Amino acid sequence: MKKTVIAGNWKMNMTRAETKAFFREIAPLVNAKDSCGVVFCVPFTDLAAAVRGARGTGIKIGAQNVHFMEKGAYTGEISAKMLREAGVSYVIVGHSERRQYFGETDETVNLRVKAALAAGLKVILCLGEMRDAREKGITDEVVSMQTKLALRDVTEKQLRSVIIAYEPVWAIGTGLTATPEQADETCGVIRATVASLYGKKAARRLVIQYGGSMNEKNAAELLAQPNVNGGLIGGASLKPAAFAAIVAAANGKN
Ligand code: PGA
Repeated sequence: MKKTVIAGNWKMNMTRAETKAFFREIAPLVNAKDSCGVVFCVPFTDLAAAVRGARGTGIKIGAQNVHFMEKGAYTGEISAKMLREAGVSYVIVGHSERRQYFGETDETVNLRVKAALAAGLKVILCLGEMRDAREKGITDEVVSMQTKLALRDVTEKQLRSVIIAYEPVWAIGTGLTATPEQADETCGVIRATVASLYGKKAARRLVIQYGGSMNEKNAAELLAQPNVNGGLIGGASLKPAAFAAIVAAANGKN
């Protein structure tokens, strides 16, 4: 895995036709073969068009969720094997919108992480504190606990296929961004937690992204922090020029 990874999270945006047009526009703007890692996590129905659009560009395609069972009576769900077959290499697990609106828990997040890794997918594991926890001064405890629970029974070898995205929930889609110092400090807490579980070397190698209203204006400063190795970008990943500018900022860090 590259040392810096910029990933877009389209959420429930973009039709198949819009996906095709987007990749025609983004491809010449980012030279992902020579740059930091570049990933787009798109809706299930856009995966085929995105995989085709990204061919030959070095851009990788991800899904936004995965179910933890291999197959069976789980109406509406998608398995890791189905994603692999669709040409997908990454999957977001545990996004706060999934935790908040769709009842996902630390336990099911852990099951999804393990199912995705077992099938050979790379995981972008999202975690982060709610505003209330930040105000009460318990951010470190919250993110440390989320990290431990999500990685339960994940081996050190498997950890090499995991990116952790630190996304303070109060900063997602709100236009509020963590300060570079807050982002660095909390990413540092996550890294220290990983060091306590897997050792210092594994923790140093781990890519930790910041997410939450990252855009072309604030990216350089956030990415300059030593503990921040990339970004998970929502709103700004829908705009080719803004996203390309964030990738350029990340390449400045490399
Ligand atoms: P945002 O979303 O950049 O729109 O705040 C980030 C995310 O939810 O991953």
